[in-house]
Amino acid sequence: MILSVEAVTAGYGNGPDILHEVSITLHEGEIVAIIGPNGAGKSTLLKSILGLTSLRHGTVHHGSRDLTPLPVASRIRSGIAFVTQGLNIFPDLTVAENLEMAAYTMTNRSEVQQKYAEIMAFFPQLQAYARHTAGLLSGGERQMLALGMGLMLSPEVLLLDEPSIGLAPKVITEVFQQIQRIRDQGTSILMVEQNAAKALEISDRGYVLELGRNALTGTGASLLADPKVGSLYLGR
Ligand SMILES: Nc1ncnc2c1ncn2[C@@H]1O[C@H](COP(=O)(O)OP(=O)(O)OP(=O)(O)O)[C@@H](O)[C@H]1O
Ligand SMILES: [Mg+2]
Repeated sequence: MILSVEAVTAGYGNGPDILHEVSITLHEGEIVAIIGPNGAGKSTLLKSILGLTSLRHGTVHHGSRDLTPLPVASRIRSGIAFVTQGLNIFPDLTVAENLEMAAYTMTNRSEVQQKYAEIMAFFPQLQAYARHTAGLLSGGERQMLALGMGLMLSPEVLLLDEPSIGLAPKVITEVFQQIQRIRDQGTSILMVEQNAAKALEISDRGYVLELGRNALTGTGASLLADPKVGSLYLGR
């Protein structure tokens, strides 16, 4: 098990509990999808894994390491990267500068250059735009850049919040193919998605969150075939 969230109850500041005893696991080499309606607490779950919420009960482990008492920086250093929902690049910087910014904690110049070259080889489309302002990229290219930024620190676990949001169907297929390629090269992926059908298709397992609680879980295929998931999330 590379990541495990056990019975986490969390909220923001002194506000109400948003998550109620939520548990999820991610095994090495998996893509796991979190689906559920708006406001269910999906983003809050990812933020809780990073330590950005106020945790009131439960634990978060990365492998055997208990992250629960650790601050955000230590959790990121332990090998967890977060690609946030919505605007997740610096639009006024070039593509190359964005990737450099994402490596700001790397102190060894040649390691940064090596990682940069790796990311560019992995996403050849970005290479052509290295000196372009990132704000001018298409939606799909931006998301590719955001994924590249997430990979700069060589994470073991990549947390993705709505990677397909606002993208055209053909581009969504491309982004999901990139996500599978990232998994294939050894990064485990926990992904929140509104696009339940496509997300479950590429996921080993999935969880449905409702009102901040675990509602359903199963393999991607079994959730896709579940009549409740079908009527609520797949428009069947
Ligand atoms: N920074 C915050 N401070 C206080 N409450 C917040 C904060 N962020 C989210 N919330 C509240 O937490 C609840 C769950 O929000 P969250 O963003 O986790 O849902 P979500 O499942 O990601 O929804 P969506 O599909 O719309 O992205 C909502 O009621 C929201 O208003
Ligand atoms: Mg969200």
